Amino acid sequence: MKPIRRTWRLALTLSCCTLLAACGREPEPAPVPPVAEATARPALIPAPASLQSREGSFRFDRGTHLVADGEAARRVAVSFAGLVATTHGVTPALAGADAAPAITFAIDASLPADAPEAYVLEVAPQGVRVAAADERGLFYGAVTLWQLLSSAQGEAVRIPALRIEDAPRFGWRGLMLDSARHFQSVEQIKQLLDAMAWHKLNVFHWHLTDDQGWRIEIPQYPKLMDVAACRIPAGEAGTDPVSGQTRPYCGYYTQDQIRDIVAYAAQRHITVVPEFDMPGHVQAVVAAYPEYGSLGDTPAVSNEWGVHQYLFNVDEPTFAFIEDVLDEIVELFPAPYIHIGGDEAVKDQWEQSERVQARMAELGIADETALQSWFVKRLETYLEGKDRRLLGWDEILDGGLPPQATVMSWRGTEGGIAAARAGHDVVMTPAESLYLDYLQTGSPNEPPGRPAQVTLQTVYDFEPVPAVLTPAQRNHILGVQANLWTEHLRTWPRMQHALFPRVAALAESAWSPAGRKDYADFLTRLPAQLARYRAFGIAYAQTPFEVLADVEAGDGDASTVTLENPLGYAIRYTTDGSDPDADSPLYEAPLQAPLPVEVRAAAFAGTTALAPASRHAFDAARLRVRTDEQMATCPDTGRLLLRLEDDGPPDGERAIFNVTIFRPCWLWAGAELDGIASAKVRLGRLPYYFQLAHDEPARRFEPAQSPHGELLLRTGGCEGEPVASLPLPEAPGADGFIELDLPLPDAGADAGRTDLCLIATGDTRPTMWVLDRVELVPR
Ligand code: ACM
Repeated sequence: MKPIRRTWRLALTLSCCTLLAACGREPEPAPVPPVAEATARPALIPAPASLQSREGSFRFDRGTHLVADGEAARRVAVSFAGLVATTHGVTPALAGADAAPAITFAIDASLPADAPEAYVLEVAPQGVRVAAADERGLFYGAVTLWQLLSSAQGEAVRIPALRIEDAPRFGWRGLMLDSARHFQSVEQIKQLLDAMAWHKLNVFHWHLTDDQGWRIEIPQYPKLMDVAACRIPAGEAGTDPVSGQTRPYCGYYTQDQIRDIVAYAAQRHITVVPEFDMPGHVQAVVAAYPEYGSLGDTPAVSNEWGVHQYLFNVDEPTFAFIEDVLDEIVELFPAPYIHIGGDEAVKDQWEQSERVQARMAELGIADETALQSWFVKRLETYLEGKDRRLLGWDEILDGGLPPQATVMSWRGTEGGIAAARAGHDVVMTPAESLYLDYLQTGSPNEPPGRPAQVTLQTVYDFEPVPAVLTPAQRNHILGVQANLWTEHLRTWPRMQHALFPRVAALAESAWSPAGRKDYADFLTRLPAQLARYRAFGIAYAQTPFEVLADVEAGDGDASTVTLENPLGYAIRYTTDGSDPDADSPLYEAPLQAPLPVEVRAAAFAGTTALAPASRHAFDAARLRVRTDEQMATCPDTGRLLLRLEDDGPPDGERAIFNVTIFRPCWLWAGAELDGIASAKVRLGRLPYYFQLAHDEPARRFEPAQSPHGELLLRTGGCEGEPVASLPLPEAPGADGFIELDLPLPDAGADAGRTDLCLIATGDTRPTMWVLDRVELVPR
């Protein structure tokens, strides 16, 4: 077993003391529950299109009844009661029309029917009325009312009188979940659908097939479940430590489970759009049915990440297979759209395959790009025959596309712009703004993922409608979607960390009018959303609410400590070892403190701490240590920095490392080497589990001089002279790490600040050494 190198503080349950102003006092026995005031400015996310305040307020308590006329209104009232029960512990009862005080839900035929999902909510001292022309709108009105109530805690709540008229900006308010790379249980997906509904999101794009796994039960093709649904994870994680046997990672959703999820989503006004990714991302299918591949070989279901080479061939039996599967998919998913993927289909196998080349010649198709275009058109025609619309990633534009096809723009917005100009409908989901596997802060407590940051504000600020489009072209932008790819997200808590609270920012971009968006205002509403997450047991990310600290040494034992909250909330701190509270000093400027110093700090919204206090202890020894997260990558190798997990133990927590896979090296800019005798370096090791396709030539490593390579320490940057070197062992110790003590030459008067670079030589395949920490040891 490897030691857990650092704790990842996800899903910490906040204690009463960090959350409630009344902390520390015993509650008085109270026969009548106190009435909580919902804030004068309601904490609604997404912000409604229009909100007018009125005089007075409405008191909600155990005596408040729900009145609903007709089946649709009753269903909405029941959903509303469920939401209220979760946050307030009270289930309001349905009553007859003359009950008072009451919340009335009404399908109102006098409201305009051409504004789907719109609603009107009126809160008056005597009662509340939610009205809409259709059930979807009524549901969203109910969600807004529940959010008004849940802006305050407690059984009895007073909400301000107001009138809200609201309708979504976009009809497509999507979230994609990758269930191929890592799998989620039906219950977990339902938890996500619940949360999507009360964020007013309405499309669940379900990525169900990929190189690493097939996840849909298709009884006609049993090897999809027996072979394609299982992979042997790379490295130690693929072996059972007790039996020594391989330990496959398997899973697929049965058709009954899929029907259950689709129905559950529909009850929440969410459409499930399935994705069967092709002609690339099909290695798992080819592992099961090599006859549908291009080269006739039988690969394993992939246990690597990145861009793979396997493509379907274009023979008729392969189309028969694809159409059989699409028939089942169309039966299972009533969505108007079927996603056929189309992304990252590098064409090497089609170029190499004599069969594919012969077929291209037979069809008179000039090149492989045109062949993919032909492939997509054929699927489009097939789906149109089933009364479904084809949707694909923006690569489907290459070589031409039938006008009815819809494009999901992920490689920036350019594909979406080109598609809208060509008359296609578009969903905007650019990686740099809306990919949730990118990390949201620079905290060392982030889980594995892509450290290039997609912050809460990045998601919030994304504008789905490019200004360069004409008004007619803008009408093609159906909406916006965030995507959760799960290569590096092995567990459901980590997936929730990646999703929340960024989904709240997505919701506002997707629903609220552009003119109503205001990030600073959104941050004032976010704490109420966090309370809702806690009520629903959602393990939202704590990292945006942490306080990060940096220290700079001064003369003697002087130091300067800088504090930062990633979202810019107010910081309160202590230096006396106690946890900060609402009376602790407010951080306004870097702290001058003699070493050693312990700073405890928390981010606050008003008097409420947003997360448990962060503790930062600094002393002279700590200043001579850097971890991988605190170090830069070498200049020129910044491509694809990843935050990767160790491969063992198979279960439980593993060590996490920041590494650039194209040329792993770690740079400590301005390290002080004066008086330093050696560098104590701790390294871990990862399986090299990547497919880089055409980027493979960019992978670099320094040749090894000894059988297992050596650890080099350079000064003057990563291209500088090696000043120390030690041979590496064949394998790390039983704990997964090694520690090497590299003696440094006594540079005498020349010692001083330098850019110190650490590199392990030797091929990064099949395993690569990765830096955990380096400590400079004084003479
Ligand atoms: C994608 O990220 N390959 C759509």
